[in-house]
Amino acid sequence: MAQQITYDKAYDTVAPEDFPAMLQVARYGRRTDAFDGIISATHDHFWDPLDKNYIDFDQPFDMETTPIVPQEMVVELRSAVADRLDERQKIQLSNDVMHWSISNLLHGEQGALSLSASLCHILLDPGAQEYAANQAREEARHVAGFTRYIACRWGEPLPVGKTIATVLDDLVSTQEVYKKIVGMQMLIEGLAMGSFATLNAKTNDPVLRRLVQLVMSDEAFHHRFGRLWAAKTIRHLSPDEHKKVEDWSAQIFQTLLFNLINAEQKQVIYAKYGLDWQWVRDAVKETFTDDDRRDQLKESTNIFRVLIKTLLHAGIITQRTAPLYAVWVDMKELEAEGDGIPGDVVAEEMLVVLREINAKRKRIVSKDVAAAAAS
Ligand SMILES: [Fe+2]
Ligand SMILES: [Fe+2]
Repeated sequence: MAQQITYDKAYDTVAPEDFPAMLQVARYGRRTDAFDGIISATHDHFWDPLDKNYIDFDQPFDMETTPIVPQEMVVELRSAVADRLDERQKIQLSNDVMHWSISNLLHGEQGALSLSASLCHILLDPGAQEYAANQAREEARHVAGFTRYIACRWGEPLPVGKTIATVLDDLVSTQEVYKKIVGMQMLIEGLAMGSFATLNAKTNDPVLRRLVQLVMSDEAFHHRFGRLWAAKTIRHLSPDEHKKVEDWSAQIFQTLLFNLINAEQKQVIYAKYGLDWQWVRDAVKETFTDDDRRDQLKESTNIFRVLIKTLLHAGIITQRTAPLYAVWVDMKELEAEGDGIPGDVVAEEMLVVLREINAKRKRIVSKDVAAAAAS
C-alpha cells in the first residue's frame, strides 16, 4: 500500500484494487463540496471537437508556404542547421518540429486522461471522484481535438518522446496521490498551459489557435484543482513530508527542463533533411547557451517559468531548493507576480464565447425536441 500524505479527507484514498471499499454505505454521504463549483462549471465550458459551431478543422492552411509558428521560435533554425536548408526546407522543418511538439502535447493529453481515470479508482470521496471523472471526460475531448488537428495537417501523430513518456508513466502508475496531483495537476498542466498560451500568442494557424483556446478553457479548471489541493495540504506537512514533496518536484522540474525537448528525441525529423541528429544537437548547443535559456524564461508564457511559478505559489519551494530555480529566474519577481498563470485570461474570454454557443445550442436542441414531440 502506498504511503499517502493526506491532510484533507477529500483526498483520502484506497488501493486501486479495493473496489469493495467503494460499496461501503457510509462512503456515499461523505461527499465534499470543495469541487462542486468546478464540477457545475463544466456545462458552461462544454465544447465538442466534432462540431463546427466550436471549431472548424476544414479552414484552409498552406503548410508548404506558411510556418505554423514563426521560424524564430524553432531553435534548430537559429543554429547552423539554417545554413544547410533553403527557404522552402526551413518552412518544412519548422512545421515538422511542430508535428513533433503537437504529437507530444497529444501524448500528454492521453497521460492526463489516464491519470484522471486512475484517480477515480483510488479517491474515496464521491465529490473528488466526480471531479476526476469529469476531468477524464474533458481530457478525452482534448485527445480527440489534437488527434483531429494532427490528422488534418500531417496524418499520423509522431511517437512519444522518451522523457515525457517516462514522466507520464510514473505519474499514471504511482499510487501516491501527492505525486499524481503535483506531477499532473500542477507540473504537467502548468507546462501545458504555458505551451497553449505560447501557441495562442504566436501561431499563424487559426485552427490551432482556436483549438488551444478551447483546451485552455478546460485546463484552467484542472490547474485550479491542483492549487486547491496545495492550499489544503502543503502548510500541514511535517518537515520530512515537505522535503519529500519539494525534492520530488525539483527532480521532475530538472528532468523536464533539460530533457523535454532534445535533438535525440527529434531524430526522425532530421533524417528527412539528411541531417545527423548528433550534428544538429551540437549545432544547437553552440547557439543556445544558458543565457539564451535564461532569456526564454523571462517570457511570461515560457513553460518552465509557469512551472516554477506554480510550485512557488503552492508553497512547495522553500529556501532549500530555491537556489536551484534562481539560476534560471528572478524568484522575487515571480513571487510579486501573484498566482495567476498565462492562459487564465484566455480561458476566461473563451468561457464567455462558449456560454453563448452553448445557450444557442440548447435553444436549437429544445426546439428539435418540441418538434419531435409534436409530430
Ligand atoms: Fe488536457
Ligand atoms: Fe488537463
